[in-house]
Amino acid sequence: MISRRQLLAGAAASAVSPALAVEQETLASAAAKVGLIFGASIDAAAFAHPAYLALYQRETQMYVTDVAMKFDWLRPTQDTWNFGPADEIVARAQADGKLLRGHTLIWNDNAPAWLKSLSLREIERVFDEHIERVVARYAGRLHSWDVVNEPFWPMDNKPGGWRDGPWFAAMGAGYVDRAFRRVASIDPRVKLTLNEAQCDNDSDWGRSIRPKLRALVERMQDKGTPLHAVGLQSHLQSQMPRNYPQFAAYVSQLGARGVEIYISEFDVNDMAFPAAAADRDAAVALLAGDFLTRVAAIPEVKLVVTWQLSDLYSWYRDLAIKAGMSRMPRPLPFGNTLQPKAMRTAMIEAFRKRPVLGYVEPQTMKRY
Ligand code: XIL
Repeated sequence: MISRRQLLAGAAASAVSPALAVEQETLASAAAKVGLIFGASIDAAAFAHPAYLALYQRETQMYVTDVAMKFDWLRPTQDTWNFGPADEIVARAQADGKLLRGHTLIWNDNAPAWLKSLSLREIERVFDEHIERVVARYAGRLHSWDVVNEPFWPMDNKPGGWRDGPWFAAMGAGYVDRAFRRVASIDPRVKLTLNEAQCDNDSDWGRSIRPKLRALVERMQDKGTPLHAVGLQSHLQSQMPRNYPQFAAYVSQLGARGVEIYISEFDVNDMAFPAAAADRDAAVALLAGDFLTRVAAIPEVKLVVTWQLSDLYSWYRDLAIKAGMSRMPRPLPFGNTLQPKAMRTAMIEAFRKRPVLGYVEPQTMKRY
């Protein structure tokens, strides 16, 4: 007969069996064990689809506003402020006990027509007013702000590779420092992030932005402009050349400047991968795993955020539909029916390979 003691021992053994441990592991729990925060961008789709919201609640430790805090969403016209969708995400994050990242306060892209029609002096006034009103509204509630998004866009042909747009036209490159200083004066606790695209790929474009971004960080630090983190979007591109060991060396150099590094919009554009879904999912997982294993090993990398969680709601899907494409992208760790994909496993495995340097404070699901 099996004794009560043997039964209990058996139950204890099964509670820690590797299979079960893997099953219960989530992206957030695997990340937290090695001192990383895992999050995902979120928008109205999650509020309209309860199972999708449940996925955020289970798999993430942080929500990031996808579109709700962008200028054109908050200010559809000069006289209208539309805080509803952003407020809803803030309330949801608080109720769910998640950290929250604001994306993005100042960006020269996607400026509404009404803003572009103003005089340069008026644009400057709107800039200050926007930062003051929005930052004050969410002060104390955000983990970090993407204060400036994509400062460089060489295709705009501006000297220095700066991205053109109303803020740049009105203030020149000085708009960047001005934004960071203003945010810090209104919300001294929020982490101030400079977010940039393309650096992860090894095209001429990607390689040309890296030194510009590093020089900007150095200039800001020399001038005493408050800056806590650099966000590297990391929308990986299957169709572009890549050299992840070199990219990881760049990330280490940036980190050595004393800033945190956030992998801020992770997903995989799979357009150059095979048509068959299973093959494509395998290729996406391989690429994601290779990238994340190298990058997550860098101690200054503190956060990994995917851009949405399910292929069904990826921005690439919207782009594919608009372009009339029949093949829908599969760029994220969960599929169209919210099923976990090979990419999720690859991400968890990459997190597990991160060397844990000394004792890592277990990260609790923080409440404000
Ligand atoms: C995307 C949104 O997810 C889409 O819904 C929107 O239509 C276009 O913008 N880099 C960024 C994000 O910094 O703001 C973009 O988000 C994706 C690329």
